[in-house]
Amino acid sequence: MSVLIKNATLVNADTSERADILTRNGIIEKIASEIEPSEVGGVEGGLTEIIDAAGHYVIPGGVDVHTHFNIDVGIATSCDDFYSGTVSAACGGTTTIVDHMGFGPAGCSLHHQLERYHEFARDKAVIDYSFHGTIQHINDGILREMESMVQEEGISSFKIYLTYDFKLNDSEILAALERLNQLNALTCVHPENDGAIRFLKERILGQGSNAPIYHALSRPPECEAEAVGRMINLATLAGDAPIYIVHLSNGIGLEYIRQAHQRGQAVFAETCPQYLLLDINKYNTMSDQVSIASHPYDEGLKYIMSPPLRDHYHQNQLWQGVIDGTISTLATDHCAFTLAQKRAGRDGFQYCPNGMPGVENRVPLLFSEGVMKDRISINHFVELVSTRPAQLFGLYPRKGLIAEGADADLVIIDPTKEVTLSQGLMHGGSDYCPYEGIKLLGYPVMTLSRGRVIVRDGQFIGRPGHGRFLHRQPLNECYRYWENGE
Ligand code: URP
Ligand code: ZN
Ligand code: ZN
Repeated sequence: MSVLIKNATLVNADTSERADILTRNGIIEKIASEIEPSEVGGVEGGLTEIIDAAGHYVIPGGVDVHTHFNIDVGIATSCDDFYSGTVSAACGGTTTIVDHMGFGPAGCSLHHQLERYHEFARDKAVIDYSFHGTIQHINDGILREMESMVQEEGISSFKIYLTYDFKLNDSEILAALERLNQLNALTCVHPENDGAIRFLKERILGQGSNAPIYHALSRPPECEAEAVGRMINLATLAGDAPIYIVHLSNGIGLEYIRQAHQRGQAVFAETCPQYLLLDINKYNTMSDQVSIASHPYDEGLKYIMSPPLRDHYHQNQLWQGVIDGTISTLATDHCAFTLAQKRAGRDGFQYCPNGMPGVENRVPLLFSEGVMKDRISINHFVELVSTRPAQLFGLYPRKGLIAEGADADLVIIDPTKEVTLSQGLMHGGSDYCPYEGIKLLGYPVMTLSRGRVIVRDGQFIGRPGHGRFLHRQPLNECYRYWENGE
């Protein structure tokens, strides 16, 4: 199977060039200023398609390192599995996902969850995938098990939570950080101060305030920032363990990260499109559906997630962090529920499952809002949505780069295509699009996964089971590229 893409503007994180690209057997075989079909054997030589990409950009497929498919959050199970979730990803220009494994039964091993997730994804995923380990408790067994997870299973990153039922205390965090650093694995952290949230939530609910806005008011920016600052200090105490802050939503925590960078500390930060483009006013929007079935909270419930949406000050700060490089990656925290599931929060925000869809929207949103609005260069866009996530999570240079020998995961973007985001265009399992009505300039028109065209003009044409599990490299391997600026 071989595809020839002609007249492309090929964009990597560091360069852009006019080139033709030949893929064969899932790999990029050749990049040159001109490749003639006859010179690569034509149809007889296995050439199955010639694509004219004139006027379009070709980027390395998006790498979304924060999704939650098949996740059971206790009060609900998310509505995207590894089929609908990855179809949705592919249609939005993402060709690799790294999913955060959900919590298992109390006391379960790391391998227990890994086996479950292999089951969830096998035969279902339409694009390549991996998983982050989830540390829900610490004991000698878990610390020992981490070694085989990294070295044998290819799981080179783990998430810890500072809130929710399986939060770790400071001693446990230090033990995890030290051990993962020793194993060259990256510690990802959900930073929110659990005690402060509990205090605020109890007070707010005690006053009878349970509308969606109170979800945000019970988890203000300071709760998140305090936990970011604490993690930065604990990482230093653990012998300068590298850390990765997931779903950063506020400017105070961002400032702590900036200061850590000035000291040379390895603190990486991810934000998500919702924190750049949606704001806290969403929680106060009342449902405008004049229907017996609607409820005033319905609109706000769509956006209940943790951390919550913030105000414009924090939004602007985050854009600044993206622009100046304090933030390394853009992921989605895709954790989709249907409206019916979210409506459990009509009885109070505390009953609403946390999370929203987004895996299909990340690449188009950052292209339109970032590149087309002149906030960032197209190379920086590629760095944020593909190259840096691939580097940090042990997938580079196979993913995140257009180069001979890399996987032929390619996305063609038409910069003139105008799209108004709406649920009718989406391919995931949810029945609402949080970005409904946002007008975009530029949209992915074709997605190739390992040389196969799997999305053409918004139509998914791939197949379940095409996606393969990616055995990821430990962090020291990734650093090589990072530090050499390759
Ligand atoms: O509300 C959210 N973000 N749900 C997904 C789980 C998490 O904390 O990342
Ligand atoms: Zn989280
Ligand atoms: Zn998450």
